[in-house]
Amino acid sequence: MQNFNFQNSTKIIFGKNTENKIGNEVKKHSNKILLHYGGGSIKANGLYDKVINSLKVNNIEVIELSGVKPNPRVSLVREGISLCKKYNIDFILAVGGGSVIDSAKAIAAGVNYQGDVWDLFTGTPINHACLKVATILTIPAAGSETSSGTVITNEDGFYKLSTGHPSLRPVFSIMNPELTFTLSKYQTACGIADMLAHVMERYFTNEKNVSVTDRLCEGTMKSIIENGINLINNLDNYDYRAEIMLAGMVAHNDSLSIGRIGDWASHDIEHEISAIYDIPHGAGLAIVFPAWMKFVYKHDINRFVQFANRVFNVEININNLEETALEGISRLESFFKALNLPTLLKEANITDEYIDEMARKLTAYRDHAGSFVEIRYKEALSILKLAL
Ligand code: NZQ
Ligand code: ZN
Repeated sequence: MQNFNFQNSTKIIFGKNTENKIGNEVKKHSNKILLHYGGGSIKANGLYDKVINSLKVNNIEVIELSGVKPNPRVSLVREGISLCKKYNIDFILAVGGGSVIDSAKAIAAGVNYQGDVWDLFTGTPINHACLKVATILTIPAAGSETSSGTVITNEDGFYKLSTGHPSLRPVFSIMNPELTFTLSKYQTACGIADMLAHVMERYFTNEKNVSVTDRLCEGTMKSIIENGINLINNLDNYDYRAEIMLAGMVAHNDSLSIGRIGDWASHDIEHEISAIYDIPHGAGLAIVFPAWMKFVYKHDINRFVQFANRVFNVEININNLEETALEGISRLESFFKALNLPTLLKEANITDEYIDEMARKLTAYRDHAGSFVEIRYKEALSILKLAL
């Protein structure tokens, strides 16, 4: 097990009607905020009015910036940075999903940086003060409500890159599962795939003697699979919505990765796909992860056998471990199919036209992706071909 420091300071306010506490909670930090949100779902379902009302009651001045798109763009981040500077804002409230939260974090990181914010995604470390961010989460998926990371797309060249800093963890996140009832079946499924992927990225490690976190990961994955299927067949069930919302947070709050080094190659490859094709991140992961697994399983067949057995209840064939490992991958694909997600690029109407470009871009700003197995151009191309 690796040495580690673990601190996740995000306060979680979870449950029914918790969005009504927003004014009170913000007041503890600021009297003037940037309210950041997406394309209109929060207005359609009444959340916007509740938030504005609660902020007003608490005499909080609000500057608004809407229009965050899924796979959030750096151009809007730059606009947010200008607004924060103009109005002297030190606190950003993100109301939405991972895209809105990530956009808020990028603004928070960019305000006190002298250069262009995109530098912070291409290698310049964040070593200056960031603004505070808080969230009201409306889609359980990315885990950005407690994570220290942010993923942004640069329309100039279609690069999608991440950066992070502990100070970008939201100071608090309000999570009311009722706010997720308006999500479509497809968006719900994409979120489930993403949170499962966050655990798998941590699970496939070269670190030995990590039995406690292995078991925590396995329990979380089993719970996501069980509740995910139940939820997709009962979208109006509060209890399933609540389990999945909690799971999305647990999957990415870093408690499952203590003492181990995660992989993250599937995420990095997926980001190349959604940068060009603008598909939901979770759908991209349902395509990439099985292909990555087929490419790397021989690297540590025992870990894949353990995954197959403990997560997908595959009986171990001691005379043919490869068969057991492959059955685990096949059951993962079946799970994604049961969620009605694509598991091949062609099912998302993606051809081989840009796979060379995607594989090349993967190492544009890093030496390699992944740590379980190091992935460079050649390996990425093989994985993308397996996904065709
Ligand atoms: O824009 P609006 O109108 O709000 O619509 C959104 C959007 O179209 C809609 N939506 C959200 N809540 C809703 C709702 N529709 C109805 N009812 C609701 N309650 O859902 C659509 C997708 O939203 P988005 O925020 O894009 O989804 P998600 O949370 O999956 O975020 C995806 C982004 O997060 C990044 C991904 O790469 C992607 O860009 N990630 C961020 C991570 C992090 N910061 O730690 C880690 C992840 O691995 C991931 O990479
Ligand atoms: Zn993800």
